[in-house]
Amino acid sequence: PFDWYAEMRQNNPVRYDERRQTWDVFRYEEVDRVLRDHETFSSDLTTATVQPRGRDDDSGVLTMLRADPPEHGRLREFVNERFQPGAIRTNRVRIEELTAKQLAQIEDNDRIDVVSDLAYPLPVSVIAELLGIPIDRRDQFKQWSDAIVARAPEDTDAHTAVQQRRSDAWTEMRTYFSKLIEERKNGTRDDLITLAATATELDRDETIGFCILLLIAGNVTTTNLITNAVWCFEEHDVTERIRAGEIDRAQAIEEVLRYRSPVQMVRRVATEDVELGGRQITAGERVTPWVGSANRDPEMFDAPAAFRPERRPNPHLAFGRGIHFCLGAPLARVEADVVLGALLDRFSTIEPDLTDRTPRPTFHGLMTLPCAVER
Ligand code: HEM
Repeated sequence: PFDWYAEMRQNNPVRYDERRQTWDVFRYEEVDRVLRDHETFSSDLTTATVQPRGRDDDSGVLTMLRADPPEHGRLREFVNERFQPGAIRTNRVRIEELTAKQLAQIEDNDRIDVVSDLAYPLPVSVIAELLGIPIDRRDQFKQWSDAIVARAPEDTDAHTAVQQRRSDAWTEMRTYFSKLIEERKNGTRDDLITLAATATELDRDETIGFCILLLIAGNVTTTNLITNAVWCFEEHDVTERIRAGEIDRAQAIEEVLRYRSPVQMVRRVATEDVELGGRQITAGERVTPWVGSANRDPEMFDAPAAFRPERRPNPHLAFGRGIHFCLGAPLARVEADVVLGALLDRFSTIEPDLTDRTPRPTFHGLMTLPCAVER
């Protein structure tokens, strides 16, 4: 999409797409403004006067992701503390253990798939532990997540089937979490389901919505960050310098977030008539800020098309900005850092085979990333 972004930033930085019935926003300046100004640009998509055809955005469950103040604060504040960098640091050792366990299963291989061997299972395992759900349901979680993010061409049988699976997944997840929440109401455990189940500010549906949001929001995204990192490091030949410590790993991961942002766009609705980038947006119209394009805006970043792992400062918008700034950002950063550190430690060479670059639908990433490895 990157050439398209460049052209749009130049010629059509804020434009209305008739087919998708949304305003697309491509420049850093305006994307940043939309994200910061949550009063004018609401996250509650149900307020849109023009609803998209086909895909329904949510299940009708209210979560922080789709709430505006004051609801947003109520739905987020009870858990904020748990995701602060300091709190997440205490999980690092456990994340290292889970990574080591995953690596142990492939240590004698001479070929691995970064996605299915590491980048997929690790984030699911971590979030499952934080929520306090048994890891033996992992395949089930994958099926649910895949069903939620799946897309198919409109007006086709495949589309109907995809929608059916999505709605089944919602129903199953609701039933699954309802039961767990009931069991944890007594508050004897120290996990996120217990935290939500005992939070007086949430009602039952909101508690379920919170669990589902955490399960979905952090998985495909972190999988893509880890995969995109291996991809970028190889493509730009910096793996050895990172291994040698010449380039700071955490800083290089920030550049991956900018350069191949796992989430390329977010969604808003205008609450009032507003001018943006010289165009007039009407209240109730949908707005799509492309963070993946903002992250390559030459007005903000020197040589944005170059992958510079030492770029500093790096004010990318990959985790959003403003009140909806990603709750899981500190966790995703630690996970990526741990996994990449462990990979470089374990294997002396990692040679990705980039011939099959089947993109992941919806998010920016790859379905598989096979690598030849040597210990
Ligand atoms: C919000 C990206 C990992 C939980 C967001 C937003 C972005 C984002 C762009 C803002 C959405 C908006 O403004 O509409 C990412 C990326 C990740 C990642 C790129 C990985 C590399 C995670 C993880 C978790 C998580 C691991 C949970 C464990 C959330 C939640 C929100 C959110 C709960 C909603 C926050 C709010 O509305 O206040 N994420 N995310 N994310 N993310 Fe993440």
